[in-house]
Amino acid sequence: MNKPEPMLNLFDFEKSMTSSLEASAIDYYQSGALDEHTLKDNISAFQRIQFLPRVLKDVSHVNTNTSFAGQQLSTPILFSPTAFLGMAHEDGELAVARAAQNAKTIMICSTLSNYPIEEITASTQASVWFQLYAYKDRQATLNLIQRAKHAGCKALVITVDAPFLGRREQDVKNQFQLPSHLNIANLFSKDHISLPNKGGHSGLAHYFENLIDKSLTWRDIDWLKREADMPVYLKGILHPKDAQLAVEHGVDGIIVSNHGGRQLDGSISSIDALPAISRAVNKQIPIMLDGGIRRGSDILKALALGAETVGIGRPVIWGLNHSGQQGVETIVNILTAELSLAMALAGCQDIQSISDDILV
Ligand code: FNR
Ligand code: LAC
Repeated sequence: MNKPEPMLNLFDFEKSMTSSLEASAIDYYQSGALDEHTLKDNISAFQRIQFLPRVLKDVSHVNTNTSFAGQQLSTPILFSPTAFLGMAHEDGELAVARAAQNAKTIMICSTLSNYPIEEITASTQASVWFQLYAYKDRQATLNLIQRAKHAGCKALVITVDAPFLGRREQDVKNQFQLPSHLNIANLFSKDHISLPNKGGHSGLAHYFENLIDKSLTWRDIDWLKREADMPVYLKGILHPKDAQLAVEHGVDGIIVSNHGGRQLDGSISSIDALPAISRAVNKQIPIMLDGGIRRGSDILKALALGAETVGIGRPVIWGLNHSGQQGVETIVNILTAELSLAMALAGCQDIQSISDDILV
């Protein structure tokens, strides 16, 4: 009998998904925009950053606990919002929410989830934050915020880098559609809950073109903040001037992100964008970063450059597809163990003691 392959790292989970799932779902989850330069650079930019480790720092007890947005977390890793988790596992977002509870972290739930937000929050004791796409139909947008609030979501994460969907050529070729047993569970009207099928295009790109508000400006952020009446984060900030504007408009935090290389190909990697944003924000509001986190040492680099936490997108999907809630928990455990070892070898006992002193 063949022994099962040990799952040592995140790449083992990635491989496992790409040999198990239907091709169009794999393409949707894995792909980036156009030539995928930014997708690849999110990873290689981390590899270009080198440590300058400190020694003789008593690292017999390394502690990855941290507090973020007033909450105690066991690890600085959050779950970034990803759409359509029902294609990866029948428990979809419910499994991710339960994993967030056991991993003592926060799940950011996508507007485009396959389970309704009320079921997701009811399935977990973890904090769930709601990621908002603003629809042209303002009532639909307000309904989403109300639903998130009543469901007990602790913060609203407005994604600001996707007025249109980036062009993912694989999805265009596949004319990407949701499988017929799944829909978009947080919306009400018929054209909001399923992807249009016009042929020759990604159904999701069509959906964005038709329904998502392209006219959004900082004035609308002020409006959404008033309507939300809960902490508001902006996701998809790369320019330090936008980070500065976010501070001026009183948002509660920002997520430095290029949407996992799925929007404007050729954009800066998220980790390369971080130092200038850290300087612009100057600790006035918390910064989270996502894009390309695949090793615990990537997390250490992001924290050293000024992020308080990081988010993982695709790795959650790989774990979910592999073994549901348990698989997602294993992903967090692997990354946290790698982070803890990297901290010890760099001479950092705890999250508070991490600074850019440990980088070349
Ligand atoms: C995403 N992302 C995303 N972002 C968002 O604000 N709302 C969403 O619904 C989605 N959906 C989504 C689906 C899939 C399949 C992926 C891969 C990504 C972007 C996501 O939150 C995050 O920014 C990136 O995934 C981070 O990069 P990594 O961790 O995948 O490298
Ligand atoms: C994506 C959208 C849904 O990246 O955010 O596919």
